[in-house]
Amino acid sequence: MTDQNALKRAVAAKALDYVQDGMKLGLGSGSTAEIFVEMLAPRVRGGEKLLCVPTSERTAALARKLGLTLASLDDLAPLDLTIDGADEADRNLDLIKGGGGMLLREKIVAAASRRMIVIADETKLVPRLGKYPLPVEVVEFGHKSIAARLARALVACGYDNAPMTLRQRDGGTFKTDGGNVIYDIAFGAIQNAPKLAAAISAVPGVVEHGLFIGIATTLLIAGPGDIAVIEREK
Ligand code: A5P
Repeated sequence: MTDQNALKRAVAAKALDYVQDGMKLGLGSGSTAEIFVEMLAPRVRGGEKLLCVPTSERTAALARKLGLTLASLDDLAPLDLTIDGADEADRNLDLIKGGGGMLLREKIVAAASRRMIVIADETKLVPRLGKYPLPVEVVEFGHKSIAARLARALVACGYDNAPMTLRQRDGGTFKTDGGNVIYDIAFGAIQNAPKLAAAISAVPGVVEHGLFIGIATTLLIAGPGDIAVIEREK
């Protein structure tokens, strides 16, 4: 097992401590969240009653295979807790997510949860967000025009040179669970995440972006030998 994989397993195991019988749970997406789902399954087989809302088709398929009980967000909201990974996190508990393309449902589910715990290895904790390219999900209709307008909005925010790449997979344009496309924007460093988030959201055709601001309540960060717990200040 690689060191990073061992850290993902350690932090996923730690997240189990926060789950209580009877909870309504949001299940994140990505490799760390999938490890958590796998570790949760024996507790359900052992008799715990958990109702789960998955944040992607991929997590839904895994959860179903493992025998977890799935329900719709509208039937369960508000959820008690969502556990999810992140591509980057800072000490304000702001995040970049969407590396796997599942940011839209991840954000909807996390926002509908009383608590969001982010599980990540220490490589994800950064002093400033933006080294990881920010995913922006846009509708496919007119996506090149949407991207051009987005680029102008970024210039107005002071980002004159932030390369934007239409995400590809398997030789074609990547499509999200919602049938949209993603532009990944390489900022290098984001100076004012709330201002940038508002500017991106204001562009017609943008469905959602991967900046999660003020949503996560706890970060669990695994390093060699320990797991740091960073709580949002009340
Ligand atoms: C999925 O779209 C993402 O938001 C993931 O939560 C994020 O990419 C973290 O994934 P890993 O745990 O695989 O790094």
